[in-house]
Amino acid sequence: MLVCGLVRRLFRQLTLQTSLLLLFIFCMASVFISAYFLYAVKRDLEPAGGAGSEGAVDCDGLRSDPSRQPLPRTVLPSDSSRTDPVVLVFVESLYSQLGQEIVAILESSRFKYRTEISPGKGDMPTLTDKDRGRFKLVIYENLLKYVNLDAWNRELLDKYCVEYGVGIVGFFKALLETQNDLRTSVPNFTFNLGYSGKFFHAGTDEEDLGDDLLLSCASEFWWFPHMWNHMQPHLFHNQSVLAEQMLLNKKFATEHGIPTNMGYAVAPHHSGVYPVHVQLYEAWKKVWGIKVTSTEEYPHLKPARFRRGFIHNGISVLPRQTCGLFTHTIFHKEYPGGPRELDKLISGGELFLTILLNPISIFMTHLSNYGNDRLGLYTFKNLVKFLRTWTNLKLQTLPPLQLAQRYFQIFPQERDPVWQDPCEDKRHKDIWSKEKTCDRFPKLLIIGPQKTGTTALYLFLGMHPDMTSNYPSRETFEEIQFFNGHNYHKGIDWYMEFFPLPSNTSSDFYFEKSANYFDSEVAAYRAAALLPKAKIITILISPADRAYSWYQHQRAHGDAVALKYTFHDIITADRRAPAKVRVLQNRCLVPGLYATHLERWLSRYHSSQVLVLDGQLLRSEPASVMDKVQKFLGLANIVNYHKILAFDPKKGFWCQLLDGGKTKCLGKSKGRKYPDMDSDSRSFLKEYYREHNIELSKLLYKMGQPLPSWLREELVSNR
Ligand code: A3P
Repeated sequence: MLVCGLVRRLFRQLTLQTSLLLLFIFCMASVFISAYFLYAVKRDLEPAGGAGSEGAVDCDGLRSDPSRQPLPRTVLPSDSSRTDPVVLVFVESLYSQLGQEIVAILESSRFKYRTEISPGKGDMPTLTDKDRGRFKLVIYENLLKYVNLDAWNRELLDKYCVEYGVGIVGFFKALLETQNDLRTSVPNFTFNLGYSGKFFHAGTDEEDLGDDLLLSCASEFWWFPHMWNHMQPHLFHNQSVLAEQMLLNKKFATEHGIPTNMGYAVAPHHSGVYPVHVQLYEAWKKVWGIKVTSTEEYPHLKPARFRRGFIHNGISVLPRQTCGLFTHTIFHKEYPGGPRELDKLISGGELFLTILLNPISIFMTHLSNYGNDRLGLYTFKNLVKFLRTWTNLKLQTLPPLQLAQRYFQIFPQERDPVWQDPCEDKRHKDIWSKEKTCDRFPKLLIIGPQKTGTTALYLFLGMHPDMTSNYPSRETFEEIQFFNGHNYHKGIDWYMEFFPLPSNTSSDFYFEKSANYFDSEVAAYRAAALLPKAKIITILISPADRAYSWYQHQRAHGDAVALKYTFHDIITADRRAPAKVRVLQNRCLVPGLYATHLERWLSRYHSSQVLVLDGQLLRSEPASVMDKVQKFLGLANIVNYHKILAFDPKKGFWCQLLDGGKTKCLGKSKGRKYPDMDSDSRSFLKEYYREHNIELSKLLYKMGQPLPSWLREELVSNR
């Protein structure tokens, strides 16, 4: 009752959606075996030591529970002395397609055969010649013809099978029939079949026959490449080797008439999709032109309701629903907890709710489920039936490219991925290249804001023997600028390349400084997702001085707006001012709203991971600030910065002390000489930042961190 109530309520909410999409993508992984179901009859009748030794076993076993009849491993009994080596094929008609396929396969395999039109109720051909069986194997194009035989003829055939140790193979077009059946409720429903070409014709005779039959109706289905030999792509570090493997699968597809233009692929075991293996994405695009894939792993396998999609490198990654529910076993009666448990999942349980709560669902299962027990078909046929009975959801199937388009129309906010630390999730770590290591991520971020002394801190930290900074980026003024902007879309491999491969001898405390992380809307949550244990350092100077320093920085870089307008013009500009003035105004003023930005970082990182430095102190007493920084980082070796820094009177700043007493200072863009700020601007900014500074002081108090000297002065003068 409780479930019904809940479900009804959910329906009411969901009926507003005019059309809900549903895609069942069933993956037939690894081998092709039987698109048609191959039911081997009378396997039990085949005695191990020769025909007839087990006596008569009733063929009715097939009818009562076909799943109990495993596929025979060999078609022809080893003892062939009592039967002629001829296969009897019951075809539907002389022109039936499958019948012709069976015959073609028998012919090419050099089997002797005789075709008969399947008798309706009776008219069984003569099976024996004196004491000798005339047929070694019986094949039914349509297994139902065997099932519907009248009692007399079936008994006759069964007896013959027992007597001569003959097997019956029946084809039942279950996959196609189910597809057609589902199409009555789900327009255009089409199975999407995956293939790993290396396993083609690698099974028993029946399995190989199944491969051929499946391919003979290739055009009825959609197809996607799995991997040539079902290998996990993340194991291939070399992209061209990976591409070669894909080419083999493509060659196989082309040779066997499998369409190759669906733009969809699935990686075995989710490998390489998330965490992203760059090589896979590149090879997929290059060899196949792949545009869509799916996985259960983003952001994590569990809980399933949090699974999301994303787009990376032009490939849409769609979330895939669980397949564990119906792939526990291949036997209906052996379903964990009993078949009723499976039925519960369908009738209002997890599977039902999955469809109900997700406008788009992708399911995937493995061929063995269909070939042996049809649990998958059973499950989804009944699920659709249940949905039609109890909801007014409109079910629909779309090909992968359209499906991805639709998905990101519904969920545009999911387009941008959020990269996480692959080592924080065991499953992710297992499907991440062993050549990649989380030790290559930084443990410290200096986040800015700009013009507060971040370059000086970066230089000083780099002088510490235990600290290793990033390689400079040529594009973004030496900073990586990963978390705040478009670089983030290049992925974590790109980010890691900025840090050396860790070795036992090198220090391993990597850090980077990108001064525009501080006021970025997205940097904090992105950084926390990838580097949850990182330490964060921000440096704060008077926001008014910071704004003025930025303005002077722009002037020094020849910015036309900064050269044309005074600082006062810029900071006091109103809404009617030209857009470019407003842009510069924002760059001057917004980063100084310290409390707002700091709060954003504190919502993602524990306050014990965040250190707020006084930029004024860093400028006047850098060695004591560096003591504090080393303590915060928990470094084993404490360096005495009093000994390695020296004040350079010419520069007017503290610099690195080199051997021989010379100093190495920051470049001329840092610590510029420019006129003092005019008093009108100062009083304007004092007022502008008053409330924000009060908020900042409260925040620092909560964090248990001392107030910078400039903030104390501001607060005192505000009284
Ligand atoms: P000005 O050039 O306006 O004086 P950032 O590196 O974050 O962009 O900050 C630049 C500012 O760092 C400079 O701003 C300067 O005041 C300050 N700074 C602090 N210590 C410094 C040092 N040792 N050398 C040069 N500049 C330093």
